[in-house]
Amino acid sequence: MNDGDGTRAAEGQDRRFGPLGTALVIIPTYNEAENIKAIVGRVREAVPEAHVLVADDNSPDGTGKLADELAAEDDHVHVLHRKGKEGLGAAYLAGFRWGLEQGYGVLVEMDADGSHRPEELPRLLTALKGADLVLGSRWVPGGRVVNWPKSREIISRGGSLYSRLALDLPLRDITGGYRAFRRETLEGLGLDDVASQGYCFQVDLARRAVKAGYHVVEVPITFVERELGDSKMSRDILVEALWRVTAWGVGERVDKVVKRGRPSQP
Ligand code: GDD
Ligand code: MN
Repeated sequence: MNDGDGTRAAEGQDRRFGPLGTALVIIPTYNEAENIKAIVGRVREAVPEAHVLVADDNSPDGTGKLADELAAEDDHVHVLHRKGKEGLGAAYLAGFRWGLEQGYGVLVEMDADGSHRPEELPRLLTALKGADLVLGSRWVPGGRVVNWPKSREIISRGGSLYSRLALDLPLRDITGGYRAFRRETLEGLGLDDVASQGYCFQVDLARRAVKAGYHVVEVPITFVERELGDSKMSRDILVEALWRVTAWGVGERVDKVVKRGRPSQP
């Protein structure tokens, strides 16, 4: 776990954290037929007490049907069938809602393609014992990426740096998608008004958590680029991230100026 280096948000250092409840690992899928069985099997092996929720956007390649087969064999596996491709953000919001309703104590985000190694999940969950939110981080000491093209690394590092500066966040990996939330943290983030659709959903949630004063900890991970299937990263996803982060950053600065200009309350 990385403690120094500004990677933990200042709040909550001395707070006592309650016990962790049962974890639900949410895996959003769109055309992951080649990956779904392996990833679910690895999660079940790495953390046998955890449950898995596959949130599938009606993948044309039949991922949803494969997930149903896994669920039929294993009462720890569940499937949320969504009507069509609506983006990572919408799939996670639906998954979180389901998990909170069912009473899970911890909600985990994990990609289906093996980039987030289930074998590292116990470390994230251990860190969550003393935190409100744990981010698996590629860009803290000990974190790394394997087999990523230089172009993706530049986009990811650049995206985190831009978000860090624009939004004044003390975090290194702000766009990553391997995370563990306590249920109370998600309940406190105001998920009802999250509009982010693509990967900027991750920036949105990290920013909400820091601004709400939650104790956010980054844990180094090894991110392994997928071997099977295709990334869903697109130009539209990048453009959405860029304009939203910029708009949030401008909004925060305007708020600060407006507050400063107002006479202080008696
Ligand atoms: N249900 C659903 N709907 N799932 C989706 C959608 C969607 O519209 N788009 C992507 N996914 C799923 C994929 O099937 C996969 O399980 C996961 O979301 C991540 O998608 P990838 O396409 O593999 O993402 P990546 O490897 O390019 O990007 C990774 O890095 C980004 C930048 O750091 C991910 O970890 C992202 O979460 C992260 O923001
Ligand atoms: Mn991927």
